[in-house]
Amino acid sequence: MYNDLQGATVIITGAATGIGRAMALRFGREQANVVINYLGGEQNVEPMIREIEAAGGRAVAVKGDVTNEADVKQLIRTAEDRFGSLDVMINNAGIENEVPSEELTLDNWKRVLDVNLNGAFLGCREAIRSMLERGVKGRVINISSVHEKIPWPHFLHYATSKGGIKLMTETLALEFAPKGIRVNNIAPGAIETPINGAKFADPEARAAVEAMVPLGYIGQPEEIAAAAAWLASSESSYVTGITLFADGGMTQYPSFQGGKG
Ligand code: NAI
Repeated sequence: MYNDLQGATVIITGAATGIGRAMALRFGREQANVVINYLGGEQNVEPMIREIEAAGGRAVAVKGDVTNEADVKQLIRTAEDRFGSLDVMINNAGIENEVPSEELTLDNWKRVLDVNLNGAFLGCREAIRSMLERGVKGRVINISSVHEKIPWPHFLHYATSKGGIKLMTETLALEFAPKGIRVNNIAPGAIETPINGAKFADPEARAAVEAMVPLGYIGQPEEIAAAAAWLASSESSYVTGITLFADGGMTQYPSFQGGKG
């Protein structure tokens, strides 16, 4: 636990499932005020609120689409009205789908960019506005992916969106460092969540992914939540503009393991 997160207000987008859900519950255990944005996974929301409150945190849920400017503004306003101000913004909502690039339609390309990149932009902009208005030395955490670095055939739109998040994070970190606002990025590797549930249910596909992870296993959402808690707490006070890879070593050229090459 990080004592300084007690009473901090944290918004997490796409928080009713997977990594977002694990982060919401982790910040609940930190006794933070958690604003759960969700679009899917509605059935998880009430039990999550109860679990956060049982852990000594406070929670409110706000349904909304991160691609909709009015919804994002409403999300920030809810945090301010309910808990006074916004301390931590986590842009986590994301989608992906597989398609050979020569068959990728403009609509599909636009949709993935809209959720993953435009949605994160709106979250960053509105959170930073709120922090500036109230003089809050806040933290923004964007959830990108190892595919901000590793090219990913058949996922051109996804990899492009995550690469965009990388430079967005770095640019905002530079721009708002003088105000004491820290902006960082977490790049998860292969994590067991609904986004890739079908793939990991197939033993062959799962083994193929595990073989790309030097630590040898598919990560759990709680391992990403732990990284987010650190970046949100003052234990990371001198850290801004980084991508924290939480990927079991996937970005360390696993095919070179064993000294071959
Ligand atoms: P997930 O599918 O459980 O979570 C994504 C969440 O975003 C869902 O709850 C979904 O309802 C929500 N969402 C989708 N579109 C939305 C919109 N327009 N507005 C608001 N919410 C919306 O999957 P997971 O894995 O938890 O994904 C979370 C983030 O982590 C995503 O950005 C994903 O790209 C990233 N990530 C996941 C990895 C993995 O292996 N699971 C690896 C690298 C990155």
